[in-house]
Amino acid sequence: MKIKSAHFVMSNSDVMKCPSEPIPEYAFIGRSNVGKSSLINMLMDRKNLAKTSGRPGKTQLINHFKVNDNWFLVDLPGYGYARVSKKDKNTFQKYITNYFQQRQQLLCSFVLVDIRHEPQKIDLEFMQWMGENEIPFCIIFTKADKLKPKVIEKNVSEYLKVLTDSMWEEAPQHFVTSSSKAIGRDEVLNFINLINEEFFKAG
Ligand code: GTP
Ligand code: MG
Repeated sequence: MKIKSAHFVMSNSDVMKCPSEPIPEYAFIGRSNVGKSSLINMLMDRKNLAKTSGRPGKTQLINHFKVNDNWFLVDLPGYGYARVSKKDKNTFQKYITNYFQQRQQLLCSFVLVDIRHEPQKIDLEFMQWMGENEIPFCIIFTKADKLKPKVIEKNVSEYLKVLTDSMWEEAPQHFVTSSSKAIGRDEVLNFINLINEEFFKAG
């Protein structure tokens, strides 16, 4: 898919105030600092469309970006950010869970995990919650530029095995990406394109 246009639409903490257009939507979620905003910029081939930072906790709201005038990308805050207070954590959880449970346009979400790390409890619990709520998602492994191909392969297969050994009959679809090297860009965009085509065909 060619990206002809991509622009910021709005930031929100209330799912009811998000854009109302009934067009396909894809959300990016995962731990703070995993590379959600960087990945969005890489996919869109725009440097500063989504705000990134070396310090966790940069993205704070539900951010909508409109792409090619007919679909939305959504940049979300990270979970597992240790420095926020308990009260803030609860508020965050509420508006993010509301978003996932109530957003009709959301066709698929991407749960990002750092390819260098073993499966973390917080990610596994989040995926389990998505499964229980029947919210479709894929896994995106990020920062693949940090590892050699052999190690990437090993880490990915070990990660997926943890999923199939626990609650998942089948591992979710996955992508290996690097925002700094634009690895996985075509794969993710083609996947989104396929879902978009199905959506518009169904009318
Ligand atoms: P929050 O908004 O705080 O939840 O973080 P985020 O998940 O949006 O992460 P962000 O995109 O801001 O990136 C966090 C840090 O990781 C930044 O320093 C990025 O430069 C770095 N980073 C992101 N993606 C990659 C990647 O593919 N490779 C490498 N080497 N670094 C990356
Ligand atoms: Mg971010």
